[in-house]
Amino acid sequence: MKDNSQRPINSFYLQFILIIILGSAILFLRAVTVLPHLQSDSEQALRDAFSVTKANRELGKPYLVVGYPKSGTTSVYQFFQCSGLKTQHFCCCGDSSDHPPCEGSTMAVCILKNMANNRTMLEDCGDYDVYCQLDGERPVKAFQDTPRGFRGVLLEDGSLELHRTADKLDRTWLYRHFLPQHFHLQRLHEENPEATFILPLRDPEAWANSVFHWFEMRGRVVNEYIAFNHSIQRPGKQKAMEWLKRIYQEHTNYIREFVREHPSHVLVEFNIADPDAGKRLADAFHLDESCWGHHNKIGDRAKNISLKEILT
Ligand SMILES: *[C@@H]1O[C@H](CO)[C@@H](O)[C@H](O)[C@H]1NC(C)=O
Ligand SMILES: *[C@@H]1O[C@H](CO)[C@@H](O)[C@H](O)[C@H]1NC(C)=O
Ligand SMILES: *[C@@H]1O[C@H](CO)[C@@H](O)[C@H](O)[C@H]1NC(C)=O
Repeated sequence: MKDNSQRPINSFYLQFILIIILGSAILFLRAVTVLPHLQSDSEQALRDAFSVTKANRELGKPYLVVGYPKSGTTSVYQFFQCSGLKTQHFCCCGDSSDHPPCEGSTMAVCILKNMANNRTMLEDCGDYDVYCQLDGERPVKAFQDTPRGFRGVLLEDGSLELHRTADKLDRTWLYRHFLPQHFHLQRLHEENPEATFILPLRDPEAWANSVFHWFEMRGRVVNEYIAFNHSIQRPGKQKAMEWLKRIYQEHTNYIREFVREHPSHVLVEFNIADPDAGKRLADAFHLDESCWGHHNKIGDRAKNISLKEILT
């Protein structure tokens, strides 16, 4: 009799305790799995916002990487290429190799020529689904195209800005890195109002460091910036790192602000030092995560990636 009357009570307590344990375990696991990825409340807010995007909006084409070079564009290229989308990186016009030498022209040259001919920027440049690198060196023309003793760098209106070959100082102005994702973003927007912008990011210091050491990219970027704003002082080698970090951050802020003001775009923003990116990038574009991190030049670092998305 005693046993019979106690059993239901024992089993009630047992169930109660089990529920408490299970509940705590679930809460604990959630905290452990979610918290390490959160860097700030605002990041969480952005992620929450993105689920609204996914529920309500298609991601418009084309997909345009609007980040700066040396920020993981190759990883993004590999991801979309592997996923079966028609994907561009550096070269143009159907070429699907991702780095020089191109079979034909570069995307930068294709865009410059279109601008010179009053065509839309991406017209006849290969009609890709995904454009991973719009920027590139501006072409420099020599004698025949220029007077003897001069070379000329190609400008948006098709003209050549001439500089004296024999003058060491003057000729440095020939080297410019065309950055349409910064200086012609307004026009890219007008011509591609539904485009999804992709902004892969890395630590500004790491970015500055890799641009500093990447062939002549540092000087080319400085020259391009000065050409658009003559008040900019040449930073010189001493202050170059600081200057590069600043323009990187300014560009990032500019893109975010721009999308806020032009809500026809969705911005998909990555941090290449954050762990979850493969999955989240795949989720954002409804693609397979297995395409992330393959054949990647930046190797392990590229797998160590995360993603945040902004709905504005
Ligand atoms: C492009 O348009 C501008 C302004 O409308 C005009 O001055 C220029 O001649 C045009 N260029 C070409 C190549 O059609
Ligand atoms: C041009 O550069 C100067 C010096 O860096 C800066 O103060 C100014 O705001 C820039 N102007 C524009 C239009 O960006
Ligand atoms: C990956 O990210 C973690 C945490 O952010 C970091 O500790 C680790 O060093 C990173 N690994 C690589 C290869 O970058």
